Amino acid sequence: MASICKNRQGTICYFIIICLSMITLVYMLCSLDVWQAQNRVDYITTTSRDNTKSKMTQSFCSFQPLSPEDALETQLLLDSTAWPKDPPLSVPIPVDQISSAAKSTFTILQGTGRGQWHVGDQLKVLITMYDLRGRPKKFGGDFIIARLHSPALGAGVAGQVVDHLNGSYSAVFYLLWEGTVQVEVTLVHSSEAIAVLRNLTNKQPDRIYFQSYFRSGSVSEKTMCNVCLNMTQPVCNYTDLHTGDPWFCYKPKKLSCHARISHSKGGFKENLKDWERKLFDKSVIKVAIQASTYPNVTVLPSKSGQAEMQKSSVNSEPSGYYYQGVWRALGSTVLQFNTSSAMSECLKEKVVHLYGDSTIRQWFEHLIAAMPDLKDFNLHNSKQNGPFMAFDFANNIMVTYRCHGPPLRFMDVPTGDLRYIANELDGLKGGAGTTVVLSIWSHFSTFPIELYIQRLRGIRKAVLRLLDRSPGTLVIVRTANLKALTLFETLTNSDWYSLQRDKVLRAMFRGLKVHLVDAWEMSLAHHLPHSLHPQPPIIKNMINVLLSYICPPKGG
Ligand SMILES: *[C@@H]1O[C@H](CO)[C@@H](O)[C@H](O)[C@H]1NC(C)=O
Ligand SMILES: *[C@@H]1O[C@H](CO)[C@@H](O)[C@H](O)[C@H]1NC(C)=O
Ligand SMILES: *[C@@H]1O[C@H](CO)[C@@H](O)[C@H](O)[C@H]1NC(C)=O
Ligand SMILES: *[C@@H]1O[C@H](CO)[C@@H](O)[C@H](O)[C@H]1NC(C)=O
Ligand SMILES: *[C@@H]1O[C@H](CO)[C@@H](O)[C@H](O)[C@H]1NC(C)=O
Ligand SMILES: *[C@@H]1O[C@H](CO)[C@@H](O)[C@H](O)[C@H]1NC(C)=O
Repeated sequence: MASICKNRQGTICYFIIICLSMITLVYMLCSLDVWQAQNRVDYITTTSRDNTKSKMTQSFCSFQPLSPEDALETQLLLDSTAWPKDPPLSVPIPVDQISSAAKSTFTILQGTGRGQWHVGDQLKVLITMYDLRGRPKKFGGDFIIARLHSPALGAGVAGQVVDHLNGSYSAVFYLLWEGTVQVEVTLVHSSEAIAVLRNLTNKQPDRIYFQSYFRSGSVSEKTMCNVCLNMTQPVCNYTDLHTGDPWFCYKPKKLSCHARISHSKGGFKENLKDWERKLFDKSVIKVAIQASTYPNVTVLPSKSGQAEMQKSSVNSEPSGYYYQGVWRALGSTVLQFNTSSAMSECLKEKVVHLYGDSTIRQWFEHLIAAMPDLKDFNLHNSKQNGPFMAFDFANNIMVTYRCHGPPLRFMDVPTGDLRYIANELDGLKGGAGTTVVLSIWSHFSTFPIELYIQRLRGIRKAVLRLLDRSPGTLVIVRTANLKALTLFETLTNSDWYSLQRDKVLRAMFRGLKVHLVDAWEMSLAHHLPHSLHPQPPIIKNMINVLLSYICPPKGG
């Protein structure tokens, strides 16, 4: 909230925010009675401020009823991810009116440097957006990312982008090393493209669809499954009785609901109009914005002689930066576990459970590749799904991987392996020597964000129960990361969807005894191209952060 008020009339802004919050609160408390009165509730109807949410979504996606506290938290989370409202353009939006990276520019401003920049200063950049015809943009909502880097030093840091809602944006960077630094600003999607992405989730939350096989004796059938399933024909309700996470399949014609044997990603229904597709041409996705002036700056040694950052009340600090290709976290030390013996020394007598999507399966793969004595036990499971277990008997190390429950875009997952993370955590003893790592984000991109909020809330409750009964357990959350975007990837898994989920993820675990591995910044700050599955040098750095939490530096 505070950062929203910065750069505007401060007091008035705060006053308005307080008033709005109170109105929202009163409105919500009033609506709570309504929710409780109804048996099967779709709180999207009552909580969302986004009027564009269509009736279809409501009848379509099933959510659990919420307690008043959970409903309030959901509302706050929705507010925290709020994106500027739709561009004031009538549809179909002509492609020449969309924000264009090629026509837009950025300028380096003075920031906190006074004529010269020193380590510890902040560098500020003003980004001015134009449309494809070169006319200045008058409103915000573009999705812009920024980083500052020195290729020769293998150094990079993520910048913080602020939307002024008038066609201009600022990017703020912390200057953390000496030398020549280069500013890089990238337009991921125009505000017009974002409006289409937002509408897609409202209108086609089932654009990725799933299916299940059913079999009994010699009879087999296949039906469609989803959280958002048009209930115009009989369904099997696979909602988890313990966590309440919803899941449905159409009932097979001949077989019973108990005959479900596997789960698979079905496919993707692309349903864009021609004008919409033009907003996602590869020539406009993730395009660099050029500097209007010289984009390089020389950073001098820190004035105070110490490499301390100037604390700022305005901008949130980055969580770390790369220097010579090595990730340095701010506020904690990342040790380098360069050899397999250093890694086994750290993991000796320990258990690491990895739960989530393929981005955490990568860690399992990295660990068994980097530690030859950690042997992957052959459970004859598919390379995509797992579950996996690896042992180093000499050092008494165990590492496991298990995927999260549906929605899950994996193929042929046996029903018995469809497990919810919250339930798995409830089955853990935990304690000192046990590390739990969670990574759950990318399979939720196409759904209303409420589904993700509910899932995380259930996981958080299970984490709290685990930490309560076994306080020594180490819990680590790997955040979302940026990825390469084609048209298909954008519609099903855009970084914009990931960003929204990443904000929810961080908020959900804030203030708990849970550590983050900031995959978002680690993928943004690095020179390697964005990838759903970041390349080995980035994974190696993530594993060093993980091991530094498990085996913290002495005295640190
Ligand atoms: C559900 O299916 C019915 C019948 O096939 C169709 O008329 C209706 O539009 C569908 N609703 C949605 C939200 O897809
Ligand atoms: C946009 O808003 C920012 C912050 O309030 C201000 O500094 C800038 O001058 C404005 N730009 C235009 C073109 O109005
Ligand atoms: C999004 O959906 C709303 C409601 O149907 C519609 O008014 C608006 O024009 C749509 N926006 C875009 C960019 O398609
Ligand atoms: C599905 O089952 C859950 C748990 O029993 C129940 O709460 C929910 O209302 C059911 N949903 C539908 C659409 O039948
Ligand atoms: C900025 O510096 C980098 C080296 O850090 C160099 O490769 C690049 O050419 C410079 N850019 C300009 C416009 O001089
Ligand atoms: C580990 O590797 C990094 C990167 O290659 C190197 O900078 C560092 O000096 C190495 N550290 C140790 C303790 O070997």
